[in-house]
Amino acid sequence: MKIAVVGTGYVGLVTGTCLAETGNNVICVDINEQKVQKMRAGEVPIYEPGLDILFHRNIEQGRLSFTTNLAEAIEDAKIIFLALPTPPGGDGSADLSYVLGAAKDIARLVRNYKVIVTKSTVPVGTADKVRAVFDEHLDINKGGEVDVVSNPEFLREGVAVEDFMKPDRVVVGTSSDKARKLMEELYGPYVRSGNPIIFMDERSSELTKYAANSFLATKITFMNEIANLCELVGADVDMVRRGIGADARIGKRFLFPGVGYGGSCFPKDVQALEKSASEYQYDFKILQSVMEVNEKQKVVIVEKLRKYYNDDLKGKKFALWGLAFKPETDDIREAPSLYIIDALVEAGAQIVAYDPEAIENVKKLKGDVIDYSSDPYEALNGADALIIVTEWPLFRTPDFDRIGSLLKARVIFDGRNLYDLQKMIDCGFYYNSIGRKI
Ligand code: UGA
Repeated sequence: MKIAVVGTGYVGLVTGTCLAETGNNVICVDINEQKVQKMRAGEVPIYEPGLDILFHRNIEQGRLSFTTNLAEAIEDAKIIFLALPTPPGGDGSADLSYVLGAAKDIARLVRNYKVIVTKSTVPVGTADKVRAVFDEHLDINKGGEVDVVSNPEFLREGVAVEDFMKPDRVVVGTSSDKARKLMEELYGPYVRSGNPIIFMDERSSELTKYAANSFLATKITFMNEIANLCELVGADVDMVRRGIGADARIGKRFLFPGVGYGGSCFPKDVQALEKSASEYQYDFKILQSVMEVNEKQKVVIVEKLRKYYNDDLKGKKFALWGLAFKPETDDIREAPSLYIIDALVEAGAQIVAYDPEAIENVKKLKGDVIDYSSDPYEALNGADALIIVTEWPLFRTPDFDRIGSLLKARVIFDGRNLYDLQKMIDCGFYYNSIGRKI
């Protein structure tokens, strides 16, 4: 099938590449000329495990190409994906100007039947807005005809290729049989193992995306609060997590407490859903609490440090392992590390940070407010303590003797509960993690 993907950000690029992989002919279009040139030259603009192999293979085999020319990209396409940003506007609601702007440009060019798919995370009612743009600008006398479909993405950064190729489910919101058949055909190869394509109306589909992310953010936040309580009552959150996770109704996944959820999706989507609800005069209390608790959780490590150092962090030197909001990505959007850095720097502490992928991005944002190290152990040299913020696999089995000998004191504050408590005692560390005994 011939497909156009408008927007080559994270979602657009993964979608376009993975759709090419099953034999579709995909043209990705972006207004950023420099980016398009780089992709044409074979450069993958984001770090995502497994993407580069598919990217190069499909370019070489002629199924994946890039352009800045929207008309050329959509001319023969049967399905056009809109994968454009929906950043939070000033009031927290999603800004739809990119999506509606692209819809208008496309509407003026369409000369036959096409399915317009919104892949971006958009508030309930956006499909109607997109349709209204087409109704206004489509030239039906020249053969223009479209169906607008909502098809939210559920990709996780770091495992996005796998999530796309073998999705738990595909959600498609459409009221058109013709569009439904095309979407069924398109996604067929990805759900061979029997996972469902769930068809529904557009509004339910749009809400499904927000509900999924908000539910997961709530689940994590609940566990963060349980962890905080564990510390007060002398319980171990690891045990509680296993105890409740064994109940299939609760499930094992997404129960890991830490330094709060971050990234480009959960914070934005929880905020946008709460905002949409308030527009319908619905007071979504649980989401308000989730946001409030998460703000505090992002700096829970700083509170622990304050307590340990009697509120005097001035002149202390900390090694910080992990800057990305989660492992296997260089993404630092809403990363807890940034909040921790700000609070520690403000308190007069010095930081030497190490991350396998995200240093360059943090440098762009924070410059030389902190120091960086290209080696995790080098970062420890002469530091008062090690702070762990991201659970990169590399940090899971470090050389504890080396850590101990490089640090000024054997002190670890771990925001991701990476190590066994007994092992830390055996190695002679003061080890403070989340929701576990010290
Ligand atoms: C999330 C969803 O998981 C995807 O399904 C969705 O498609 C995506 O948002 C999106 O809307 O585009 P992502 O933001 O890549 O994916 O990352 P997650 O793996 O979900 O992690 C989000 C945050 O929650 C991270 O900060 C992570 O550290 C935190 N987290 C996750 C926990 O603190 N504990 C957990 O048990 C799981």
